[in-house]
Amino acid sequence: MSQKAVNVAIIGAGLVGSAFISQISRLSKTPISYNVILIARSTKALISKDYSPLTLGDDWQSRLNSSSDSLSSTGDIAAYLEKSPLPVILVDNTSNESLAQSYPLLISQGISIATPNKKGFSSDLGLWNSIFEASAKPKGGLVYHEATVGAGLPIIGTLNDLVNTGDEVLKIEGIFSGSLSFIFNEFSKPTGSDVKFSDVVTKAKELGYTEPDPREDLNGLDVARKVTILSRLAGNKVQGPSSFPVHSLIPKPLERVETAGEFLEKLPQYDADLDKLRQEASSENKVLRFVGKVDLTQQTPSVAVALEKYDNSHPFASLKGSDNVIAFTTKRYPNPIIIQGAGAGDAVTAAGVLGDVIKIAQRL
Ligand SMILES: NC(=O)c1ccc[n+]([C@@H]2O[C@H](COP(=O)([O-])OP(=O)(O)OC[C@H]3O[C@@H](n4cnc5c(N)ncnc54)[C@H](OP(=O)(O)O)[C@@H]3O)[C@@H](O)[C@H]2O)c1
Repeated sequence: MSQKAVNVAIIGAGLVGSAFISQISRLSKTPISYNVILIARSTKALISKDYSPLTLGDDWQSRLNSSSDSLSSTGDIAAYLEKSPLPVILVDNTSNESLAQSYPLLISQGISIATPNKKGFSSDLGLWNSIFEASAKPKGGLVYHEATVGAGLPIIGTLNDLVNTGDEVLKIEGIFSGSLSFIFNEFSKPTGSDVKFSDVVTKAKELGYTEPDPREDLNGLDVARKVTILSRLAGNKVQGPSSFPVHSLIPKPLERVETAGEFLEKLPQYDADLDKLRQEASSENKVLRFVGKVDLTQQTPSVAVALEKYDNSHPFASLKGSDNVIAFTTKRYPNPIIIQGAGAGDAVTAAGVLGDVIKIAQRL
C-alpha cells in the first residue's frame, strides 16, 4: 500500500517560517509524507510547478532569495493550490491581514489552514464566522490555529476539548504577552523590587523581548487579540479586540511621539504612576500583573485586558522570565487548569504550527 501524502504550501519564511521549514524537513518515521510544494515570502517564491516535493536542503533560503518567481497575490496562491493532485495544507506564517481575509475562499476550495497568524481569528467577527462556516461545509478544508495564543503551548486545543466534551467554561485568565510578562516579573516581585518601570521597558527592548517600538506591546492590543480568540472559542462571540476595555500602559502624551527612541527617552517622566501602583500592591502583599480575562459567570459575560493585583502566593506572581500562563476555571475544574511555559519564540511557535499540520494530515 502506498504511503499517505499531503502537499504543504508555506507562506512566510521569516523567523517562524524558517524554523517551521527546518522542523518539517527533519520529520522522520512519519506514517504520512509531508511534501512541501511552495515556499513564499512577500516578493519571492520557490514553486514546484509539477507539484512534486521541493528539495529542502540547507540552501533553500539562498535559492528562495535568488528566485525570480513570486506568488504573493492570494488569487494566484488559490489558483496554484486548486490544481494540486494531493490534499493541501496551507501554512500561513505571516501576520498578513489580506491573506487572512482570503481563508474562507481557500477553505471552501478544500484547502486546510494551519497558522500562528492571529489576524483571521481576532479581527472582525464576520471573518471568524466565514472561516468556520466554510470549514463546516462538506468539502471545506480544516482550520487549526493553536499558535495564535501562547505559541506552542496547548491552550486552544485544551479549550476546544473542554468545550467539545460539554464542560462549561466559567473563567479564563492569563498572562499572554511574553514581553509584558518579563516587564512585570522584573518590576513587581513578591520579594520586592525598586527598579524603575522605564528601565525595565528599556531592558526588555534590549533583550529583544519587545517589538522594535515597545508601544506595540504596551498598548495591550496583542493581548486583546488573544483574549478575543479565547472568548470566541469559549462561546462568547465578541465583535473584535476593540469591543471591550483594554488597558494601555502608554502614557497619553507619549502615544503620538514619533520614534521609539523619543518614547523611551520620555518614559521616565511617568515612572511615578506605576511606582505608586506597585507600592499599593506591595502593602497588600500583592504584585502587579498585566492580564487578559474572560468572565462567563455573569448573565452578561465580560472581557478585559487589565493591570491587576495578585496575591504573592498566586501562580501568576511566581512566573519567571517571559513565560505565559493561563488558567481555565470550568464547571468540571473549579480549581483551574493551569498551563504555563514559553509563549513566544520561533522554535516553539513553529512546533505549535507543525503539530497542527500533523493533526490536519491525520484527519484528511
Ligand atoms: N516570533 C514569535 O515568537 C511568534 C510567536 C507567536 C506567533 N507568532 C506569529 O507568527 C507569524 C510570523 O511571525 P515571524 O516572527 O516569523 O514574522 P517575520 O519574521 O516578520 O516573518 C514574516 C514572513 O512573512 C512574509 N510575508 C509577509 N507578507 C507576505 C505576503 N503577503 N506573502 C508572502 N509572504 C509574506 C515575510 O516576507 P518578507 O521577508 O519578504 O517580507 C516574512 O518572510 C506572525 O503572525 C506572528 O504574530 C510569532
